[in-house]
Amino acid sequence: MTNAEAYDRGFAHLTSHTVGPLLASAGRNRAPRLLDVGCGTGVVTAAALALGAEVTAVDADPGMLELIARRHPYATIRLAALPELPFEDEQFDVIAGNFVINHVPDTPEALSELHRVLRPGGTIALTWWKADEMTATNVFAEAIAAAQVPYDPPVRPFASHDTPQRFTALMAGAGFREASVESVRWRHQADLAAWWTHVVRAGGPRFGVIGCQPPEVVERIRGHYLRLAAPYEREGFPVCAHLATATR
Ligand SMILES: C[S@@+](CC[C@H](N)C(=O)[O-])C[C@H]1O[C@@H](n2cnc3c(N)ncnc32)[C@H](O)[C@@H]1O
Repeated sequence: MTNAEAYDRGFAHLTSHTVGPLLASAGRNRAPRLLDVGCGTGVVTAAALALGAEVTAVDADPGMLELIARRHPYATIRLAALPELPFEDEQFDVIAGNFVINHVPDTPEALSELHRVLRPGGTIALTWWKADEMTATNVFAEAIAAAQVPYDPPVRPFASHDTPQRFTALMAGAGFREASVESVRWRHQADLAAWWTHVVRAGGPRFGVIGCQPPEVVERIRGHYLRLAAPYEREGFPVCAHLATATR
């Protein structure tokens, strides 16, 4: 199983929850030229193609692109990393970024670039996690701590922008109009053993550290994870995302 396949079997079931609200802004255009930025394995691309959009999907990870290209031959797939995009000005009617803005090193620069490639009157929708309500992944951080494994969490430049007030101000600063943010809450239902396997195998900046430990340490972390995740087994992990929408 590649990292992208593990992502697809685990995280993509979590992130797909916000695809409907994210694409609601695309409904105003017929066959819009839609940019799925930070496309991952394609949960947004799949839904946008089904709505009849002309989809361009970009991601910084070639492994993700290899999987999405295989699965969605009718989308245009490009390797690109925000804050730089290989597109002409005003090329898209709609931009959708599902849980990518929180990974980008320079948020204001990324928003300016997204503004540049969106046509006047076009719409943008971006999601990110409300970190303190993200139990589905916070249990991994808590399990690492409980196992007393030395761990420096990666620096999150986005943390200084991640409230609705700060983010709408940033969007206005990048030139977007009518920026607003809503919260979307749901419960992520997952088999706990499978969720562990797929999150650990997906790697990534936060939990890639688990797979690098000696087997006995991995088992120790897993034991704490199973204990900490047990209260969510029946009802699912409560999670919360922010969804920002705006117009150029
Ligand atoms: C949490 S995943 C979300 C994937 C997909 N949008 C979804 O909803 O499942 C974040 C994605 O953003 C990509 N990514 C991270 N930094 C990026 C950047 N600077 N520019 C473009 N993509 C980036 C990652 O490779 C990953 O595929």
